[in-house]
Amino acid sequence: MSEFVQIFEVGPRDGLQNEKAKIKPEPKVQLVNMLSEAGFSKIEVTSFVSPKWVPQMKDAPIVMGGIERHQGVTYAALTPNKMGYQFAQKAQADEVAIFAAASESFSQHNINCSIAESLERFIPVLELAKQDGKLVRGYISCVVGCPYEGEINPAAVAEITEKLLALGCYEVSLGDTIGSGTPETIAKMLETTLAIAPAEKLAGHYHDTSNNALDNIAVSLDMGIRTFDSAIGGLGGCPYAPGAKGNVSTSKVVKLLHEKGFTTGIDVSALESIEVFVAEMLKQKPDKKKPLH
Ligand code: HMG
Ligand code: MG
Repeated sequence: MSEFVQIFEVGPRDGLQNEKAKIKPEPKVQLVNMLSEAGFSKIEVTSFVSPKWVPQMKDAPIVMGGIERHQGVTYAALTPNKMGYQFAQKAQADEVAIFAAASESFSQHNINCSIAESLERFIPVLELAKQDGKLVRGYISCVVGCPYEGEINPAAVAEITEKLLALGCYEVSLGDTIGSGTPETIAKMLETTLAIAPAEKLAGHYHDTSNNALDNIAVSLDMGIRTFDSAIGGLGGCPYAPGAKGNVSTSKVVKLLHEKGFTTGIDVSALESIEVFVAEMLKQKPDKKKPLH
């Protein structure tokens, strides 16, 4: 029997958060609905972050409230703090994600606090989620490279992974935020992290800046990782990671996995029309050059 690999579709959140011109909530809702119909079982719909920091996600409650919920699909949202969790809870996100970094500078740029402060801030999120019976995913950004600090020591990733799991995260998604990873650096980072966490608790979140993401996924599969984040059409980037390009494209990942004999539950033939929809959605933007702040 073929082995299942979990794809976590992050396009509606990670894919769109960096788009500078305002996209209306309706096409975002339609995108999530199309993804649900294509067989995705985990979709990161939006983020409940400060609208001053990421204006594109300001419509999070409208988007979350507008989607058609399919049975068996988890509709997730990013929450950086207790306030974000409370908004996500009100909007009935099925699960939430907290996000830390392996680099102090990135933590400051992205969430305006140190790594240690961020972990403190996540405690109430995990407490409330536990009361509500909701799962919490943990992200670590800059697992191999940082736009401000350069190379990252794998030991820092292992240490934060351990802390996020101890806080109660069910899984830690390892983010190559700027896509500087190679199969060698990813393997080194994973080897160190796998010494403290089993492969079932880890996911790969690889941006495809240098076209290495598929090779990075291949090496991660060899090391036992069975969950990968990707974005439809290769959308994305992080507004606080200069130079970060899109997430690895979902259709490329699904094709790679099917070629390797894994199952994903995703209807490949549906992906093309979703990619066309996304391209149209972005073309309709009135003002591509508007600055973020
Ligand atoms: P801060 O300015 O230090 O926070 O930002 P604050 O507590 O002083 O609040 C400032 C204002 O924001 C206040 O409003 C708060 O009420 C409001 P004011 O009184 O000025 O009107 N506020 C909120 N509003 C809505 N929802 C909230 C919220 N929290 C505060 N949750 C903060 C700290 C964490 C809020 C900010 O830095 C932030 O929102 N950062 C998020 C940045 C972000 O979303 N980055 C992209 C996602 S991470 C990523 O893409 C990486 C990933 O994909 C993995 C990878 O690739 O590496 C996950
Ligand atoms: Mg990302």
